[in-house]
Amino acid sequence: MVKICCIGAGYVGGPTMAVIAMKCPKIEVVVVDIAAPRIAAWNSDHLPIYEPGLDEVVKQCRGKNLFFSTDVEKHVSEADIVFVSVNTPTKTQGLGAGKAADLTYWESAARMIADVSKSDKIVVEKSTVPVKTAEAIERILTHNNKGINFTILSNPEFLAEGTAIKDLFNPDRVLIGGRETPQGQKAIESLRDVYAHWVPIDRILCTNLWSAELSKLAANAFLAQRISSVNAMSALCEATGADVSQVSHSIGTDSRIGPKFLNASVGFGGSCFQKDILNLVYICECNGLPEVANYWKQVVKVNDYQKSRFVNRVVSSMFNTVSTKKIAILGFAFKKDTGDTRETPAIDVCKGLLGDKAKLSIYDPQVTENQITKDLSMKKYDWDHPAHLQPPSPTSKKEVSVVFDAYEAVKDAHGVCILTEWDEFKNLDYQKVFDNMQKPAFIFDGRNVVDVKKLREIGFIVYSIGKPLDSWLKDMPAVA
Ligand code: NAD
Ligand code: UDX
Repeated sequence: MVKICCIGAGYVGGPTMAVIAMKCPKIEVVVVDIAAPRIAAWNSDHLPIYEPGLDEVVKQCRGKNLFFSTDVEKHVSEADIVFVSVNTPTKTQGLGAGKAADLTYWESAARMIADVSKSDKIVVEKSTVPVKTAEAIERILTHNNKGINFTILSNPEFLAEGTAIKDLFNPDRVLIGGRETPQGQKAIESLRDVYAHWVPIDRILCTNLWSAELSKLAANAFLAQRISSVNAMSALCEATGADVSQVSHSIGTDSRIGPKFLNASVGFGGSCFQKDILNLVYICECNGLPEVANYWKQVVKVNDYQKSRFVNRVVSSMFNTVSTKKIAILGFAFKKDTGDTRETPAIDVCKGLLGDKAKLSIYDPQVTENQITKDLSMKKYDWDHPAHLQPPSPTSKKEVSVVFDAYEAVKDAHGVCILTEWDEFKNLDYQKVFDNMQKPAFIFDGRNVVDVKKLREIGFIVYSIGKPLDSWLKDMPAVA
């Protein structure tokens, strides 16, 4: 029986390994992590992450060929294939702070693999890493020269949160990069055999190591660039009376452009896009390519602009002040169908409104009060000026309340901001919402989920990203 061990039981390690276990009943899969509470949650009825379809997959395999454990060293030493799916956040201190990937967790995992291994292993980079990381990892793995063969592969993960199980069941492609040596090619074949249990062979792409590593950063950069492109267009639509949904549809019907990932929004969030683009920017700078670095940097700058443009629109529409006004925040997660708040645009929007002294009432179906409080009290790292750390937002119980129902959040509010596209926000009883709000009642839709015409008929003043402006908003000062 082939034994797989995955280091890192997070958003990638957990679902990916659960699906491998389900699709390959003859392979034993153990997911290990140093975070004991996380492992305990994986072994319980309340999994540590919310992901549609995940519960069923885990329940089907856990205890049979899928295990979660904190005994990292034991399971690594017994495995034939070791996936490393630890976090690779942006460095916040020292050389490359604000852009470069922090490989501390990766390096410590690699050192541990080298120390505890007693047999040959394939070590798979599942985490997103800078191009050429495999070279450094190879050196670490062989540093104590025990005569063990470690073959390193790059197998970046392309799942998106909220659709992880669907993406893993039916991936557009699986990418495996390895050394162009007989040992490297044999390792590629072993990993390809695992995925071939359910992925058609023509969708398993095999490349050299550096192409696989760079393809992951490139894919995220291209995806994020599409969103910044459509968001840039949304600003122009508002200025000219064009409708961004119509523009997206029109350009998306060009088969060279394609219809996906063209939804204008309050900005992209999530743990990957900003981190991976900044990492790409840093790699370009290190390789003496400042023009290329600046090109990609602009994708993140436009995203920051979109978030501050939204805040400015809210404040300027409401007579240029939200001081002491109750604003309902509907949605805090970075997208629907996840409870993840990493880099969610809601953090920046809430902090912007708090900076203007608003009182916030926040509701999200999957994010806990603890998480929201933590996110709003954390210092925001200024990626563009890493030496400067902004002071924490002055949040207190009085300024932010977290509630468990959308109607509770909007009660007596002056304005509503929709920041996550949860389906339930499409189907709210907006007449009831209107009746319970202060007048004039404002709705600022950062996800284009509401029916603007219908809401205006009810009496709301509606702003929806990239849509023709309400006559009320047109008369307000221009937003930069
Ligand atoms: P995560 O923070 O959810 O999980 C990482 C886990 O690794 C944590 O539970 C942490 O405790 C554990 N860990 C860290 N060091 C360890 C060590 N030395 N030994 C054992 N466990 C250790 O992160 P994630 O979202 O799963 O992302 C993991 C990697 O995958 C990152 O490089 C990320 O960029 C990449 N990725 C993420 C996504 C996504 O949607 N989240 C998608 C594709 C790729
Ligand atoms: C992304 C990549 O899609 C995935 O391939 C990679 O493995 C990890 O990073 P994820 O961040 O989980 O996945 O979600 P994604 O669906 O890409 O959305 C990212 C952000 O962009 C979200 O905030 C989402 O709301 C936003 N978005 C997405 C838009 O604003 N408009 C769109 O059209 C699509």
